[in-house]
Amino acid sequence: MSSFWHKIRADFPILKKSVYLDHASGGPIPRPVYEKITQYYEELSCEADFAWNKWIDRREDIRRKAARFIHAEPEEVTFISSASQGMNWIAELLANQGEVLTNTCEFPSSTLPWIWRKSKIVWQKPENEKVELRTLKSLLSPSVKTIVTSFVQYATGFRQDIKALGEIKGGRYLVVNATQGLGALEADVKEWNADFLCSNSYKWLMAGYGSGILYIREKWLPVFQPGSAGWRSMKEPERMDNQRLALKDDASRYEMGCPPFAAIFALGAAIDYLSSIGIQKIQRRILELTDFLILGLEKQGLEVISPRAPGRRSGIVVFKVREPEKVRRFLLRGSRKIYVSARGAGIRVAPHFYNSFEDIEILLKALAKTSDRLGSLL
Ligand SMILES: Cc1ncc(COP(=O)(O)O)c(C=O)c1O
Repeated sequence: MSSFWHKIRADFPILKKSVYLDHASGGPIPRPVYEKITQYYEELSCEADFAWNKWIDRREDIRRKAARFIHAEPEEVTFISSASQGMNWIAELLANQGEVLTNTCEFPSSTLPWIWRKSKIVWQKPENEKVELRTLKSLLSPSVKTIVTSFVQYATGFRQDIKALGEIKGGRYLVVNATQGLGALEADVKEWNADFLCSNSYKWLMAGYGSGILYIREKWLPVFQPGSAGWRSMKEPERMDNQRLALKDDASRYEMGCPPFAAIFALGAAIDYLSSIGIQKIQRRILELTDFLILGLEKQGLEVISPRAPGRRSGIVVFKVREPEKVRRFLLRGSRKIYVSARGAGIRVAPHFYNSFEDIEILLKALAKTSDRLGSLL
């Protein structure tokens, strides 16, 4: 292991007790993120509201960094508490704009906000675990006005070609749930031609629960009014005018009351941490680890259902086993406490950059042992 990847493991105390390979469920926060959150609580206990201006400045600095992270402008970014909140706010704007095209393998956060608002939904079915662009294109009738897709599918690891989707969307709104990609893979809303994007903070971004990013393309900000507003949605909140509406022009108008500073600061620290390594380097490392994993699984005769084509791979690898939940428990109970998920027909493994090839080897050995114990995994 190169000394860089070895050294970085010290930022992840979870490795002392386990082999953690489940970032598609939730990631640990690296030590520098933990320290930034602790610093905030220290300030809160010693300075309370005296620190307000400093915190507001820090939040704006994080907004700029978050925007840069997805290649957006700061005015296009607002902080959210979950991907579900972000998708609901998008659906609030677009639900009555015409039909919504999505697919049957989305996580519910992508689809329920539209169903809740009674949008007419066109459902695309995946083919061999892939949401094929060819099929998607054939479903783009003139009545479809919005396309909703995950960047990476949570149950298969299929990475959609969002750039190609942005090229064929025509005048439709392209809505991306980036939750299973952001922090692991490069994301560029401008290159993608995306109109809206949301992501929570607790998976590959490794910022813990309670924060996230909503991107609204600048040109839509004056077109769509939010369904809700509060005193801090106003241009001059400190006036505390309780009778006059003067809504901010930028996406921060969605931040209605006092900010959840701790969650936003955690997100900022996580973006700093990931950016200091570099998202391209992170992406390359994750794909090397998953390459190695896929090879090892196949050597054991296990069927990997995650799409394999270059560009369609992600940090998620799913393989078939007969009794996923039993296998998951087995791996967790062993001396190395291997943490993965049981998803659909199989086991989902989701390593991040700080995992090592040795971590993957430990998993592969444990799977061989589990197979012996259970007779077979198939
Ligand atoms: C693609 C995707 N979106 C959203 C979520 C859940 O996000 P939240 O709880 O922030 O709505 C998940 C969780 O697994 C997911 O995989």
